[in-house]
Amino acid sequence: MRVAIPRETFAGERRVAATPDTVGRLKKLGLQVRVQTGAGAEAGFSDDAFADAGAELVDSTTALYDGADIVAKIRAPSDAEIAELPKGVVLIALLWPLQNPDLVEKLAAAGLTAISLDRIPRISRAQKMDVLSSMANIAGYRAVVEAANLLPRFMGGQITAAGKTPPARVLVIGAGVAGLAAIGAARGMGAEVFAFDTRAAVREQVQSMGAKFLEVQIEESGEGAGGYAKVMSKEFIDAEMALFREHAPRTDIVITTALIPGKPAPKLWLADMVERMQPGSVVVDLAAAQGGNCEGTVPDEVAKHHGVSIVGYTDLTSRLPAHASQFFARNIVHLLSDMGGGELKVDLDDEVVRAATCVHAGEVLPPPPPPEPSPPPPKQEERAHVAGPKKAEVALPENVRWAFAGLGAVLALSIGMYAPDDFVQHFTVFILACFVGWQVVWNVTPALHTPLMSVTNAISGIIVIGGFIQAGANRDQTATWLAAVAILFASINIAGGFLVTERMLAMFRKGA
Ligand code: NAI
Repeated sequence: MRVAIPRETFAGERRVAATPDTVGRLKKLGLQVRVQTGAGAEAGFSDDAFADAGAELVDSTTALYDGADIVAKIRAPSDAEIAELPKGVVLIALLWPLQNPDLVEKLAAAGLTAISLDRIPRISRAQKMDVLSSMANIAGYRAVVEAANLLPRFMGGQITAAGKTPPARVLVIGAGVAGLAAIGAARGMGAEVFAFDTRAAVREQVQSMGAKFLEVQIEESGEGAGGYAKVMSKEFIDAEMALFREHAPRTDIVITTALIPGKPAPKLWLADMVERMQPGSVVVDLAAAQGGNCEGTVPDEVAKHHGVSIVGYTDLTSRLPAHASQFFARNIVHLLSDMGGGELKVDLDDEVVRAATCVHAGEVLPPPPPPEPSPPPPKQEERAHVAGPKKAEVALPENVRWAFAGLGAVLALSIGMYAPDDFVQHFTVFILACFVGWQVVWNVTPALHTPLMSVTNAISGIIVIGGFIQAGANRDQTATWLAAVAILFASINIAGGFLVTERMLAMFRKGA
């Protein structure tokens, strides 16, 4: 099977759907790759680099599409491009089928199968193919770079002989993928960052990135289907506006990313808020292509209102073409790999493939039913209620508890009366250690179990040393055997601890 990678024709598009690195990966999947000359030029990938990676380079589209089974590109094809695509080919691109029904009809008439990357569901399994997330990450970063470029002041605070300046204040509205990336970039440049989102679930993510999470005094969950947001009530939006008005005079940069799938972007930063900002401040509206979150946004331009720059670029990812192409191309490799690589099959029983396929062998496919809305997180009192019966489930019935207590008392009494003195001493320490250990571990939040394992590793280390001393003391056989058993179990605990910690650390390593 052969994949064709054309040069993008959309004005200003600098990305490419394959890189020399992904050509190698596609070949490993059993696919052949044909790249149009100059396809990677704007992203910094030369024809030679593609050829060295094993791609076949051709100049004309006729040669490119001749015998192609798959065509991977970034933007939806133009009418002229559709006319050139061979019948039966699998086209993979950002098609936005819901917004472009005409395009879908044309692709169907051309007898293609069309897979729209923007329709890949945001589920764990599909994360590696999620182009929207990988591009939003880049857009969020680039939004901060554009804002810093226009801002007539430092991002980070300065203390110099010539004077002192506080850090710039950045407000990120909508802490999805793009918003979180913007928070990271702005924090990295030393700014003080605030963020607001209707979904309370993102609060911890915002805070873990060093930003302050702003809240309104209205209890309403913004959680919609499939991890996306839902439309909020008028009261909520009013409260949100009041909060923004209060922050506007102290905010140097506003980055808006708020979006509800399938809806026009909500207007959240109104003209009067722009007017409240200091002259020279910057608003970057990432939702410009969906109508904009800010009043006064002009798509693809930097508009000026009351001395405030309003950036409406819709090509932020193309302004970072090398990495944007790299991520996009990797997403495509993962998709093709999941679809069978060299033995590619459009399996409509696969929920990811089904969701992304808008045309199948010349037939328009309706979008699949939306995913079930995720249940909202329980409120404080509900959480306590949920925790209640769970504890009761593990609790033992009253009479069994009394029986255990009685047995324990008899055992303690007989040990006290008949056992040698030093055994009683050791036994008391042992029981106390079990009790304290149990209480400590039982109350630790599950998220901290891994760091806790590092502590238990240290304790296991002490047990191993104790075991060696006991075994070496040569007192009697039972003690030696018990020491050996202690050494064995403690060693298993240490090895397991290292293994789990190593796996956890690998999750945070770049490129892992
Ligand atoms: P996302 O769906 O992950 O995030 C959007 C966030 O907005 C969600 O967390 C949602 O809860 C929040 N939101 C919705 N209504 C809100 C409200 N009233 N107040 C506060 N927050 C609200 O989307 P993602 O992937 O982060 O993309 C964000 C935006 O960036 C989209 O508009 C996308 O089209 C745009 N984008 C722009 C690019 C450009 O070049 N300009 C490139 C890539 C993405």
